[in-house]
Amino acid sequence: MTLSNVVRGPFQACLLGYSLDACWQGQGLMHDALEATLAWAFGELGLHRVMANYLPYNDRSARLLERLGFEREGYARAYLQIAGQWQDHVLTAKVRAPD
Ligand SMILES: CC(C)(COP(=O)(O)OP(=O)(O)OC[C@H]1O[C@@H](n2cnc3c(N)ncnc32)[C@H](O)[C@@H]1OP(=O)(O)O)[C@@H](O)C(=O)NCCC(=O)NCCS
Repeated sequence: MTLSNVVRGPFQACLLGYSLDACWQGQGLMHDALEATLAWAFGELGLHRVMANYLPYNDRSARLLERLGFEREGYARAYLQIAGQWQDHVLTAKVRAPD
């Protein structure tokens, strides 16, 4: 997994990316890894918002993010160029729980 585009100042946000080899999927491993990553991001790193975006047909990613408490915030047309095509993405984010 990666935390990228970290922006400090009044935003305190980053983008989350993740990928797991096919033979390790379906066992809850990425869920557990991301739970630990989010605790680190909201704890030690002091971030306020973690954003994660996925292709509309990526059901596994949608389920994973929902279980982690990410909320859908929007839908971006032609958001990323993947395999030579500009493809729409669902935009989600998780905000740090109030202290
Ligand atoms: C997105 C991706 C990381 C999801 O992987 P995953 O293994 O399904 O994610 P989780 O760790 O949440 O595992 C959940 C699955 O494990 C199963 N599972 C088995 N034992 C489990 C346990 N003890 N705890 C939780 N889940 C368990 C769940 O039932 C679920 O399976 P299901 O979706 O078939 O119902 C993976 O599909 C992937 O790497 N895809 C390619 C790259 C990609 O799309 N990246 C995201 C770009 S936005």
